[in-house]
Amino acid sequence: MTDASVAAPSAQDLEVTAELVEFIRQSPSMFHAVATARCMLDGAGFSYLPEGEPWRMGLGGAYYTVRNGSSLVAWRVGRRLDDYHFQIAAAHTDSPTFKVKAVPELAGPREYLRLDVEGYGGMIDSTWFDRPLGVAGRAIVRDGDRLESRLVNIQKDVLLIPNVAIHFNRRVNEGYAYNKQVDLCPLFSAGALHAGAFDAMVAEAAGVEPSQLVARDMYLANHQPASIWGWRDEFVSAPKLDDLQCAFAALKALVASGCEGHVSVCALFDNEEVGSGSMQGAKSTFLRDVLERISSALGKTADEYRRAVARSFLVSCDNAHAVHPNHPEKTDEVNAPQLNRGVVVKEAANQKYTTDAFSRAVFCELCRRAGVPVQAFANRSDSAGGSTLGNLSAAQVSLHAVDVGLPQLAMHSAYETAGTRDTAWGIRALSAFFETDVRLGDGESVALG
Ligand code: CO
Repeated sequence: MTDASVAAPSAQDLEVTAELVEFIRQSPSMFHAVATARCMLDGAGFSYLPEGEPWRMGLGGAYYTVRNGSSLVAWRVGRRLDDYHFQIAAAHTDSPTFKVKAVPELAGPREYLRLDVEGYGGMIDSTWFDRPLGVAGRAIVRDGDRLESRLVNIQKDVLLIPNVAIHFNRRVNEGYAYNKQVDLCPLFSAGALHAGAFDAMVAEAAGVEPSQLVARDMYLANHQPASIWGWRDEFVSAPKLDDLQCAFAALKALVASGCEGHVSVCALFDNEEVGSGSMQGAKSTFLRDVLERISSALGKTADEYRRAVARSFLVSCDNAHAVHPNHPEKTDEVNAPQLNRGVVVKEAANQKYTTDAFSRAVFCELCRRAGVPVQAFANRSDSAGGSTLGNLSAAQVSLHAVDVGLPQLAMHSAYETAGTRDTAWGIRALSAFFETDVRLGDGESVALG
């Protein structure tokens, strides 16, 4: 095929992909993803406004706040703010993994020491076997009469979940069902370590004595370096592309984009992979609380806030399934995206995706103007498909919304694959969204100013 839309990636595409890969490397847990995002925002001159403090802000200002260290909302107030409303891009900071339980170790059999872990989200179990693993998350440590949170990232390979030899499991290639309590316990030691070693390791990594470690949220982390691969560099493989690829694109767009009439918002939520029901998830009051407080800090009345929300627009960004090369039958025949062919708009009649004709039209028009190709995803009509952020956050802040994503393969594998051209398109589409005043009128009309 010589179609320009499937050309090899440009030097700039590869530069953006290399930046994405570095963002992922620094983000082995949801807590680290937020810390990495904060670094980007601090570097771009955004001011941190803690949720528990009074907020002051002015025209043209750029700010962010954080909840639980794992969700973040950043925003830029328009320079003129003459069309007061919110234009929001949302993505998620978490990915499927395993969480270490409160009592972390299983002693034996024999001299072995294993970790006791439980699943976080819907991972592909088989992808976690036979790969060296680290752990990452946060530790709560005692410092005098204070308890404080510290990021912990053990990058050394300290764990591995060994497969059972095929000689002991002759049917492993015939569709073996793994039991998480039995098959997926990571091996921690062959005898050199004893009970207590895990917390001692976490304490050491947190820079405290074991007696100072009070609690922790620690997750298995795949530190396998990302790879940009293919004879024409078409592919990027890395952990956590779902949804750090979109989180990165949304942040890059917010940082790079000016804003005139409205407030541009980037919302990164934790806990999407486990139903979003936590105090910092998409179903929580986090986004609503932030938008309300932006309004009062800008001196707007409750009525002006409601009018602003009625005229606001959400782009919910969560990665999409590309056609599988070996299983094209898993996706719809024509509503099925390909790698390196642009941003995907997802639509479902049951409204698990928020997209409708109006929101699709607004988003596609922005992409058309920005020169970003758009593809369509719909589930096969005989399969249920996944859910995402847009319809969940709508329960708290109800506004026009479109569900989009970047195409990828092997979603929820420990090592996922995407195209090297699509991140740059995602950034370009979201930059166009932030830079354009999407002026919603009465009924379903809009002016893209
Ligand atoms: Co996702």
